[in-house]
Amino acid sequence: MWSLAYIFTLFGMSLAAASQAPCIELNDGNKMPVVALGTGRGTASESASVDEVRQSVYWAIEAGYRHIDTAAIYFDEPQVGQGIADAIANKLVTREQLFVTTKLWNDKHRREQVVPALKESLGKLGLDYVDLFLIHFPVAEKEDGSPDDVDYLETWQGMEDARQQGLTRSIGVSNFNATQIDRLIANSNVRPVVNEVEVNPTLTQEALVSHCQELGVAVMAYSPFGFTVSRKNPDAPPPRSDDPVLVGMANKYKKSTSQIVLRYLIDRGLVPIPKSTNKNRIAQNIDLFDFYLTKEEVELINRFNKNIRVIDPVDWKDYPNYPFWEY
Ligand SMILES: NC(=O)c1ccc[n+]([C@@H]2O[C@H](COP(=O)([O-])OP(=O)(O)OC[C@H]3O[C@@H](n4cnc5c(N)ncnc54)[C@H](OP(=O)(O)O)[C@@H]3O)[C@@H](O)[C@H]2O)c1
Ligand SMILES: *[C@@H]1O[C@H](CO)[C@@H](O)[C@H](O)[C@H]1NC(C)=O
Repeated sequence: MWSLAYIFTLFGMSLAAASQAPCIELNDGNKMPVVALGTGRGTASESASVDEVRQSVYWAIEAGYRHIDTAAIYFDEPQVGQGIADAIANKLVTREQLFVTTKLWNDKHRREQVVPALKESLGKLGLDYVDLFLIHFPVAEKEDGSPDDVDYLETWQGMEDARQQGLTRSIGVSNFNATQIDRLIANSNVRPVVNEVEVNPTLTQEALVSHCQELGVAVMAYSPFGFTVSRKNPDAPPPRSDDPVLVGMANKYKKSTSQIVLRYLIDRGLVPIPKSTNKNRIAQNIDLFDFYLTKEEVELINRFNKNIRVIDPVDWKDYPNYPFWEY
């Protein structure tokens, strides 16, 4: 008898990449896979080392991920690039099949700094282009971290330059509030394709999410697990991973509570960015496409909302364009 694996091999398919995320179409026509591997390492109680990133990117591609999220400020673009290069060398994927996102840091917000900053990221990643380049925060800093007063409308002109030069296929923003999204769209030629913001059961962001979605701006959800996984904040609010509501859904669908939370985000039309450096959890976090939650179950998870952030950059409250005034 031929094994199933052998038959799949015959047809050029791989059993290892069983879980592929579908794509959504962005407002510029490009397509983006709805699950991205997170490579930022700073927010959990046990932060990953930069050396683990290369391996996790490789494992993720092996498990079926086609979207990787990094940033200049994560200082891991070389490791992300090596993981991608290994996967391409071993013929798991081609560059064209991958969607790579990176981000501009706050001290490179002047128009003439944007293209050189992206070229530096591309050099570290070992890539000719990224698929998506984001303004990481609307807040501008000087190199020493003190506030700078560069308008993000100026930064956006630099982003448009980068796109025009083919260094990135799409451009977008991160951590912009609704007022800032509106102002950007009203005063620029190219609409952002994405706003990457924190969304999870304790920060459901219903108003901002529907506002962006009505404008054709896709929302990527960072820190998707919220406080269901252990964080540095010991006073964190519920739900935790053993919450009865989440456990009930997990039992019903034969999934983990982490998978329930990711599926909740996908069922709201969001693109979650789970970070893991553990091989089994990496695979688990994309094994999401054989079930979905009912509208009522999504509503039930929305009710956990506390408007409390995992990422709360309160140190920037006095900086121009600080985004998080409402909560
Ligand atoms: N744009 C921005 O400003 C911004 C800000 C923050 C984050 N991000 C992006 O979003 C990504 C994710 O956010 P995050 O790192 O804050 O948090 P997260 O993905 O919500 O949580 C990561 C934590 O969850 C654990 N974990 C992962 N999968 C699990 C599973 N299936 N079961 C149990 N535990 C699991 C991880 O541990 P193990 O690694 O041991 O599995 C890690 O401790 C970042 O890596 C970054 O790419 C963007
Ligand atoms: C967004 O941020 C701007 C700049 O700090 C602020 O003026 C505005 O009130 C904020 N809007 C919302 C909806 O939070």
